[in-house]
Amino acid sequence: MPLLDLLKNRYSVRAFLETPVPREILIEIFKGAQLSPSNCNVQPWQVYVISGALKDQLKESLLTAILSGKEPNPDFDWKVHYFGVHRERQFGSANALYGSMGIERSDKQARLDAMLRNWSFFDAPHVAFFTMEKYLKMMGAVDLGIYTQTLSLLMTERGISSCFQGALGQFPDPVRRLLNLPDSSGVLFGMSFGYADESKPVNATRTDRASMEEAVVFLE
Ligand SMILES: Cc1cc2nc3c(=O)[nH]c(=O)nc-3n(C[C@H](O)[C@H](O)[C@H](O)COP(=O)(O)O)c2cc1C
Repeated sequence: MPLLDLLKNRYSVRAFLETPVPREILIEIFKGAQLSPSNCNVQPWQVYVISGALKDQLKESLLTAILSGKEPNPDFDWKVHYFGVHRERQFGSANALYGSMGIERSDKQARLDAMLRNWSFFDAPHVAFFTMEKYLKMMGAVDLGIYTQTLSLLMTERGISSCFQGALGQFPDPVRRLLNLPDSSGVLFGMSFGYADESKPVNATRTDRASMEEAVVFLE
């Protein structure tokens, strides 16, 4: 499929079928993502793909931590306080998401339940955690952003859906324990992936984009 069609086809999926992705396809995709460029070719991504019983165990420990009222303690400076047009777009994406699920703005419990689905990995058979050395800060985050977009497009090409999840970096302690991460390393974010359950209303969510003219200025 031409790249532009892949970009048009990709969207965030938040309900998955149980069917796992065969290991040989996983290997092909993650091998492909290794071709991503990075600043000075440092390739700072250290990626963990968790599936099966270990994934279910992690889900339980994350939900236990969150439901106990724990405050988010991300390894990196990740605070989602948007202003101006960014805030408007944030509201736009939330409205698209909750609208597709038929959740009213005033229904706080339903919104919370939908949010908690992040830590159930939206029932996906696989979840990837993207970690890097903490000292890299913004430099590393740029590289990981490029890496993960490459990854998601390689997945789209093979009919595999995904959702980038900043939420998966908000409560890193159970993840750090499971992965035995050294203090020098942090969880930047995660991604649930697998085959989309097209019957679920949440997967009808579509977001719009600002026009190219709003984002790009050509000068000569
Ligand atoms: C870095 C990053 C973090 C995100 N974090 C979350 C998240 O925690 N939970 C979620 O449901 N969606 C998350 N998203 C998905 C965005 O909401 C989504 O990409 C955006 O609304 C555009 O919609 P689309 O992906 O369907 O085109 C994240 C996306 C990115 C790129």
